[in-house]
Amino acid sequence: MEIKLHDKHFVPFISAQEIDFAIATMAAQVEADFADETPVFVGVLNGAFMVVSDFMKHYKSPCEVSFIKMASYEGTASTNEVKQLIGINQDLTGRTVIVIEDIVDTGNTVEELKILFKNKGVKHFKIATLFFKPEAYKKDIKLDYIGIRIPNKFIVGFGLDYDGLGRNLPEVYQLKD
Ligand code: IMP
Ligand code: MG
Repeated sequence: MEIKLHDKHFVPFISAQEIDFAIATMAAQVEADFADETPVFVGVLNGAFMVVSDFMKHYKSPCEVSFIKMASYEGTASTNEVKQLIGINQDLTGRTVIVIEDIVDTGNTVEELKILFKNKGVKHFKIATLFFKPEAYKKDIKLDYIGIRIPNKFIVGFGLDYDGLGRNLPEVYQLKD
């Protein structure tokens, strides 16, 4: 069913079941690679809160979680400047850090995150993202774990918002054209 958030209309795009399968698959892949490491999952707020929660329920080995807050979006277009609003104070020296993103679009945020964690002496730095827009991606940074590749269209739901609204939707909707 079509929904309206602020001034825009959205149509159903990806079901809760598909999302859960994609997250379970990513968790299994990370676990296969790092079960012996006690990784620190770093969720990127606000959007990633739902992904992180479900990811961790699927991840059965020892792990820790922390959050970081960046902001680059205003409305439905990415701005070039990425701001860090909440940082990480934990010592990450020698740790395996897996950044968990809701979506990678232009790649500005992951680039910023990579720079940020480079100076923290981490052992492994990996990026996991539930959604990825290959057509919008402008960086060379490898994304290590990708849930679902989507076309270059604005989506909401499952943590993702349009100007604050839509994060609570358990499935994902696409902007109607
Ligand atoms: P990037 O820095 O351009 O890769 O954008 C990353 C951030 O922009 C994501 O973590 C989201 O918060 C936001 N974003 C990108 N695409 C969408 C979208 O389609 N819907 C809602 N938010 C988005
Ligand atoms: Mg985000």
